[in-house]
Parts: sequence; structure tokens; C-alpha cells
Amino acid sequence: MIVLGIESSCDETGVAIYSGDKGLLAHQLYSQIKLHAQYGGVVPELASRDHIRKLPLLVNAALKEAGLDFSDLEGIAFTRGPGLIGALMVGATYSEGLGLALDIPVLGVNHMEAHLMAVMLEEEKPSYPFVTLLVSGGHTQLVFVKAFGDYELLGESLDDAVGEAFDKTAKIMGLPYPGGPELAKLAENGDSERYTFPRPMLNRPGLEFSFSGIKTKALLTIESATEADYPDIAASFQAALIDTLIQKSLRALKQTGASALVVSGGVGANQYLRSELRRLSELGQFNVYFPRSEFCTDNGAMVAYLGHERLSRGEKSEQIQLVARWPIDQVTNQTDV
Ligand code: KG4
Ligand code: ZN
Repeated sequence: MIVLGIESSCDETGVAIYSGDKGLLAHQLYSQIKLHAQYGGVVPELASRDHIRKLPLLVNAALKEAGLDFSDLEGIAFTRGPGLIGALMVGATYSEGLGLALDIPVLGVNHMEAHLMAVMLEEEKPSYPFVTLLVSGGHTQLVFVKAFGDYELLGESLDDAVGEAFDKTAKIMGLPYPGGPELAKLAENGDSERYTFPRPMLNRPGLEFSFSGIKTKALLTIESATEADYPDIAASFQAALIDTLIQKSLRALKQTGASALVVSGGVGANQYLRSELRRLSELGQFNVYFPRSEFCTDNGAMVAYLGHERLSRGEKSEQIQLVARWPIDQVTNQTDV
């Protein structure tokens, strides 16, 4: 089956084409970062309008990249949630319209499940069961993936997502939006041991996270520092966040008995997180898997892949129903019902 995947949940317009026989045939991405940078965060109305402008162009480009025509498409998958409703609406209505015109099935998929499955686009992929650390701008979750479509939420952040903690702290330092990668860049030249940041929730049992306290500590530290100290603050702050993510992930592996850890979502692009987990994995206790960095952040390839898995099992959406919130453990396989 050849599936067109469309991602428009936030500030990236992503389009990709996935073939069951040949794998990923095309992948096009347009980031709205420049549009929103002047406001210091995503402006939902502007995001929707920009998706409208870019989506048809990206679909044409993806078809060209794959050497295909519209008539070659056999299914369409779009992100149904979680996300900004207006932005989701653009991908959904485009998909429904195109699906009707081509008379092919259309399916709305879960954005977080798409992040979770992005690793399956890589040559090195885990076998079930595995634990996934989902770390993005809106989510910090540990998920036990027992099988395709069978997800148990082991723990999540009680307040801010880790990407949000990165972004807000970066903003206080005056770094451009989105601050996560900028803060990580600044940290490369910093001393991670100069400042002591708490490792939140590590002294308590369980797999919950909390990042609001460490963010406040970062604010106070920045207020009493000069710009010359920023690289050391960034390095110390990043080390505390990443250390917490890693310790909880190891705890999740132990709790579930799984031997494979997958990291997905935007913060999964963080090089320090990747290198620390690779180093620990080489000590032999577990295997670690990552999507390539460009498939950690929002993209259409993960939607096309997940859409292919579900559409080829016979699933389809009868009508558009968008959801701002859609917990990962409420995702089911239609064909199981
Ligand atoms: O998955 P994603 O692209 O969008 C959401 O679904 O939220 O994740 C975006 C988040 C932002 O908070 C961004 O700052 C963060 O991922 N991020 C990073 C890095 N690259 C992206 N955080 C730390 N280090 C990075 N290299
Ligand atoms: Zn995302």
C-alpha cells in the first residue's frame, strides 16, 4: 500500500509518502519557526493559515520526489490529535477532500503514537516489548509498548514537559524560539558541574516527572548571573534534566523487564541525551534506539509510517473528529474491537 502522511498539529507542516514494499519514498517538511519567533511562541491562528499556504505545495513536492501521481496513492493518514485544533483542521480537511476525490481510505492518527513509531523507519529498530521515553514540547512520558497499538502509560510529567522546561529557560536567557536546541548548543561550551540543579522526583519511587521546580531554580540562577555564566548554567541545567530522564528510563526498564529503550519526540534530538544513553547502553544492560534527529521533531514521515500500518490493517475514519488531547493509552486498534 502507498500512503500519504500529513502532519499539521503545531508549527511544522510535514508531508511524506510511505510504501509497504519500498519504505519511505518522499519526505517534505516546512517549519514555521521564523513566523513564530518574533512572538516567542506558536501563535495558533498564524500556524493554521501557514499550513493552508504550504500543505498543497508540499504534497506536490512529495509526489514529485517519489515520482508518483495522485492516482498512485492508496490511502491518506493525517494527525488527528493531540495538537492545536485549527492547525489539525487544515491537515484533516485537506486529507478528507483528497480522499473523497481519489476514492481512497483516510485515517486520523495519534501524533504521540506517530512519534513512538518513528523509530520503525530506521534500520536499527527494537522488537516488542520495549519502553519508550516520549519527550517533546508538550509531553514527557514513559510508555510500555507491549505490541503495536498496546500501550501502557508508566509515568508522565505532573507539570511542565521537558521540552517546555528547555524552551522557557532558554527564553529567560534571551535565546531565540524554540530555545531547546539553542540552549543545548550553548551548553556544549559550558561546565555542567559549576551549578547544582536538583534532580526532581529521583528520591521518590515511581515514574512521574516534575520540571517546574528546576525551572524556577534556573530563573533565580540566571537573575543573579551575568551572560558570561550562561554556558555553565545551560550545561548544568541540561545535565540535571537529562540525568532525570535517564534515571527514570532505567527505572522503567527494570520495572517492566524490557531490555530495549526507545527515545522519541523533539527532545530526543538532544545530542547529550543520545550520547549518554549510548554510553550506558554499551555497558551492556539494555539496547537503545533513536529515530534519526529529523524524525525526532515533528515530521510527516512518522505519520505516513503509522498510517500505513493502520490503513493496511483495514482501519479508516468515517468522519473528521479532531482532539486537542488524546492520551497514548487510549489509542486502540480498530481491527481489535
Ligand atoms: O516533538 P516536537 O518537535 O513537537 C512537539 O510535539 O512538541 O518537540 C519540540 C520540542 C521543543 O520544546 C524543542 O525545544 C525541543 O523539542 N527540542 C530540543 C532539541 N531539539 C528540539 N530540546 C533539547 N535539545 C534539542 N536538541
Ligand atoms: Zn511532536
